[in-house]
Amino acid sequence: MSIRETSAWQALETHLYKDMHDVHLKQLFQDGPRFEQFSRSAAGITLDFSKQRIKSETFDKLLDLAREAGVPKAIERLLSGERVNHTEDRPALHTALRLPKDATLHVEGEDIVAAVHKSLARMETLVTKLHAGQWRGATGKAVTDVVNLGVGGSDLGPLMITTALDEFAADDVHEINLHFASTIDGSQLAEVLPQLNPETTLFIYSSKSFGTIDTAANAQTAVDWLKSILGDDDTLIKRQHFIGVSTKPEKMTEWGIDPEHQLLFWDWVGGRYSLWSAIGLPIALRIGMEGFRRLLDGAHRMDEHFRSAPVEDNLPVLFALLGIWNVNFLDIRSHAVLPYDGRLKHLPGYFQQLEMESNGKSVTNEGEKVDYSTCPVLWGEIGPNGQHAFYQLLHQGTQSVACDFLAPIDRYSNVEEEGLRNNLKTQHRLALANCFAQSRVLMLGDDAVSSENEAPIYKRYQGNQPSSTLLFERLDPETLGALVALYEHKVFVQGTIWNIDSFDQWGVELGKQIANETDSILRNHAGHENMDDSSRHLIEAVWNLSSH
Ligand code: F6P
Repeated sequence: MSIRETSAWQALETHLYKDMHDVHLKQLFQDGPRFEQFSRSAAGITLDFSKQRIKSETFDKLLDLAREAGVPKAIERLLSGERVNHTEDRPALHTALRLPKDATLHVEGEDIVAAVHKSLARMETLVTKLHAGQWRGATGKAVTDVVNLGVGGSDLGPLMITTALDEFAADDVHEINLHFASTIDGSQLAEVLPQLNPETTLFIYSSKSFGTIDTAANAQTAVDWLKSILGDDDTLIKRQHFIGVSTKPEKMTEWGIDPEHQLLFWDWVGGRYSLWSAIGLPIALRIGMEGFRRLLDGAHRMDEHFRSAPVEDNLPVLFALLGIWNVNFLDIRSHAVLPYDGRLKHLPGYFQQLEMESNGKSVTNEGEKVDYSTCPVLWGEIGPNGQHAFYQLLHQGTQSVACDFLAPIDRYSNVEEEGLRNNLKTQHRLALANCFAQSRVLMLGDDAVSSENEAPIYKRYQGNQPSSTLLFERLDPETLGALVALYEHKVFVQGTIWNIDSFDQWGVELGKQIANETDSILRNHAGHENMDDSSRHLIEAVWNLSSH
């Protein structure tokens, strides 16, 4: 049965038509206080969803939908390690990566918590060695620079977290500069390699499948660059200058990574859910194992809340339901993530993969075409910068965009120099003022100003644009862990209601296959005859230009 046929869905449709059709958010606020009713806190995060276009009845009916779609049972199935990834016939157990050492989780006969903590211990050995300045390159010099080679989930999580938590960098350790190279075109390596010394550079070859051509191409360029200075000894170069992180030990060994320098994780960890595994090695290098464990603890707190809180208080469930209401009932299919904190500049990109690769699906778990919308287009930017770029559309465009505003309450308290601290604190206050102002204007429109509005039409604001605000005390490893886990679980709840598999990504495979074929055509200067007219001409343009 399609979710649209459930009584809860139909009740929501009727409610929309009867009670919500012409309702403006400002009217809802005139009806009485909303914050207390429509906000919840967990694991250090407060979710204010009072500026969403809902009434009490909407809220209750959305909760009915969660119950009728079997969300509480689905949460149990996810966390207990059932095979929720149907098309790949395996569990999705990123939450197991955050379980404390004394927990147990038996999955198909094996206690996987022990294996997880064994892997953390191996990771710690490598981190300690690097932080002690004891990892030496082929010529005996200590490593000073580490370049993470990976793409998608093997890049975005470590990049986002290391950027966000830079001020938690491990101190009293041998300094390691971190770099990230992901793009298949080599842009990042072209920029970074000329600044590095091959003798003191270590690469992390990070790939769940160890078969991604983007990362393989970057790794090959790295090997050749190392060899051009350090000599041709392939075994020595790869042993001293590469760590491998993957689920495929045999492929790593075949490529030349020393088994001692391999970190493993499991096929039940999805790529976009893998920052909590050994894929998080760059995070541990930046903030130390202690910081990494704090990140895991924060995520675990959110997991526990997700497991135990009733649906009406459950942050990920509520966050998911608001998204469903916006997409499926209010027909808002664009969703912006807007952090008011420059340290979160990679968060929108990270959530883009998390949400769109997970829920950008149109076939149900029973193999039928869905007859409703699923994942909205997710995008975003540092909020204050977005204000001077695309907020025009949010305020006066022809389509609605649901917005998430994110901000820490306290910032810069740890800056030692008083004058600088005061200036920066003032700047943070300005950022908060802008954050609150934007969600208010989006909600109220012209009514945000108290004076009578006589402005010409091009200066008017219609308002009624829904948003949520996520406020937290400060951005630290625990809070960031909880925040990422909140979005992960939101995605799962939405996938459950949409009845799709949030853990596969078949939609990326065909492009990879056709790219391989196209590369062989480009290389061989032949074989494009039967292609479409556009592709043929594009290929010929490359051949014509490269022959000059
Ligand atoms: O092509 C998509 C994808 O498979 C993502 O799901 C994944 O995070 C990324 O590529 C990288 O994959 P891998 O870690 O196997 O190199």
